[in-house]
Amino acid sequence: MKTIQFFDTSLRDGEQTPGVNFNTAEKVRIAKQLESYGIDALEAGFPITSPGDFEAVSEIAKAVDTMTVVGLARCRKKDIDAAYEALKHANHPQIHVFLATSEIHMKYKLHMSEEEVLASIKEHVTYAKSLFEKVQFSPEDATRTEKEFLVKAIQTAVDAGATIINVPDTVGYSNPTEYGELFQYITSNCQNIDNVIFSCHCHNDLGMATANALAAIENGAGRVEGTINGIGERAGNTAIEEVALALHIRQDFYQAKTNIILEKTKMTSDLISRLSGIPIHKTKPIIGGNAFAHESGIHQDGVLKHPDTYEIMTPQLIGLKTNHLPLGKLSGSHAFGQKLIELGYTNLTPEEQQILFDEFKVLADKKKNILDRDIHALVAGNAISTSQSLEL
Ligand code: KIV
Ligand code: ZN
Repeated sequence: MKTIQFFDTSLRDGEQTPGVNFNTAEKVRIAKQLESYGIDALEAGFPITSPGDFEAVSEIAKAVDTMTVVGLARCRKKDIDAAYEALKHANHPQIHVFLATSEIHMKYKLHMSEEEVLASIKEHVTYAKSLFEKVQFSPEDATRTEKEFLVKAIQTAVDAGATIINVPDTVGYSNPTEYGELFQYITSNCQNIDNVIFSCHCHNDLGMATANALAAIENGAGRVEGTINGIGERAGNTAIEEVALALHIRQDFYQAKTNIILEKTKMTSDLISRLSGIPIHKTKPIIGGNAFAHESGIHQDGVLKHPDTYEIMTPQLIGLKTNHLPLGKLSGSHAFGQKLIELGYTNLTPEEQQILFDEFKVLADKKKNILDRDIHALVAGNAISTSQSLEL
């Protein structure tokens, strides 16, 4: 079974989320959490961009132990030098050099010809390799790059010493079929890549970042880049927790394992949410507040009989204590009865329970969220059940 590595960029691409700004202490705290979560490589920042980013990369390099620490650099010597300086205390340093290769970027942003781009890749990857053992190259906007030129750019980077090739879907333009085929195309047209790790990096503009990453894995990617909770530019990056859980739950299909400690998913997600100030949407897969909540009567009845009926993973797997059966107008008598017991009303007769259930249904038609105190009020306000002893 192959092992898929995770490269976390919550502190670099994730910090490009509008409004997000982690300070150095927060970054070090996050880095330590990500290391204990089982992340293989952490992109700690872009050292040339500011003294603060340089300091954070440097502090993270000193603080972490086994995880690879990565610094981002454009194809410029001063960027590469800054990354080298910032990472000099890292046990496992890596540099990530990038240059755009799509016609749109070369023409409008870089004002460079194809030949100039290839020459720059050769010069700067060669220079990076003189300072780092682990060198990653990313052809930015790869999915909108003309394929033959993309292969030339990647081959140039490999020949100059890159050992990790990342294929960014910079603007979230690709889809799973196309992105998977792109990995096939690259790996069957590049030479001398036996020791090269191919990595995917997806953005979520069309809501396909997780699906695209999984398609890349199916087609030879050995590493996934992403962020916790999917934070990042515009609609964000691939959510690492989604890919990790998909690989675990569908191990039968992907035949892959990871180094992620899944039970630390919730606490890692909570930390990023709290420090980034970006709340998690209730219906977000895996970590959303409703991901393990069942409201309809049929689902609640099924889950109470056997959780497997409506849960493909246990809440404990991601570090939650339990699932949740919120009471609403669609809830059935099974979940309602369970709630009465949970609240200590254990001696009610079936008739008394039925009366309370009918009253609950009337209330639930008017009130979206039924709270424990509403149930207590129903019991207290009911002539029959006031005689019941409350066994708390
Ligand atoms: O999305 C992107 O292209 C990037 C690169 C720096 C890899 O984040
Ligand atoms: Zn990106």
